[in-house]
Amino acid sequence: GLSQVELTELVAAELKARDAVLVAHYYVDGALQDLAQATGGFVADSLEMARFGRRHAAKTLVVAGVRFMGETAKILSPDKRVLMPELEATCSLDIGCPADAFSAFCDAHPDRTVVVYANTSAAVKARADWMVTSACALPIVKHLKDQGRKILWAPDKHLGGYIQEQTGADMLMWDGSCIVHEEFKATELVLMREQHPQAKVLVHPESPAGVVALADVVGSTSALLKAVTDDPTGTFIVATDNGMMHRMRQLAPQAVLLEAPTSGRSATCKSCAHCPWMAMNALEGVLHCLRTGSGEIQVDETVRVKALGCIERMLDFTA
Ligand code: 13P
Ligand code: SF4
Repeated sequence: GLSQVELTELVAAELKARDAVLVAHYYVDGALQDLAQATGGFVADSLEMARFGRRHAAKTLVVAGVRFMGETAKILSPDKRVLMPELEATCSLDIGCPADAFSAFCDAHPDRTVVVYANTSAAVKARADWMVTSACALPIVKHLKDQGRKILWAPDKHLGGYIQEQTGADMLMWDGSCIVHEEFKATELVLMREQHPQAKVLVHPESPAGVVALADVVGSTSALLKAVTDDPTGTFIVATDNGMMHRMRQLAPQAVLLEAPTSGRSATCKSCAHCPWMAMNALEGVLHCLRTGSGEIQVDETVRVKALGCIERMLDFTA
């Protein structure tokens, strides 16, 4: 087999030869994040990934992340070829919100403005008035509340509950959750904080309310990263996917980063929050999709045009 260095060089050459750019989420393997950085691509949260994909001139976008991120890229850039190293990489929020059942839920509540999280299929977005990510959900819901709107929110009940608590908006909630963030445990987190009284607790709002309540900073992946780079010698307890640690360590090598306790889905580690679908992304997969054109994202044109509206509304709002 090839060494990691050889493989990285091969993928970099292939990206260049095919006028392709790599866009990676903070949760994927560090090698992919580094390659994206080194080749003029981008590493970011889901909101900034969408923006980057749209503005970049490359003919092909290779999206290292989960399916909805590739779909959002395709919806925004229908003339680009969007490839993913692993088309099976999905998300428990997306799985838990099938388009037909969701559409029926919307039909039953026609008086409500439909706000969906980015972590959904193109077909679900096509039924929505607004799409939001964790980076902009709060100001957008606040804006809708100020306009007197009642909201139908899907699919993440923890993020939705947090937004409802912060804004006081009238939100009817779909019952979905992230299998990774749902594992963070408040009781154990209290104990860990007692052992590290100087630590700041950073929490992604897909976590349960009891964990969010213990946070010094609640925010999207990019907001949590900023909390670390703002205090580069600090100590942090991090309640989000541990793929995030790679970029935090790079940008703040002196910071002390501790993984927040989980219930320990795996027998081999007590604290090991990592998304199994994000983990499917690898250098080999990127090379394979570039060489063979496999893993291409297709979105039905009728669905795409409908979904585009709710994504553009968010991009305009946050511009
Ligand atoms: P961000 O939008 O914060 O990047 O989160 C996406 C995600 O899947 C978190 O689990
Ligand atoms: Fe979905 Fe959770 Fe994985 Fe993010 S970490 S992609 S929300 S399952």
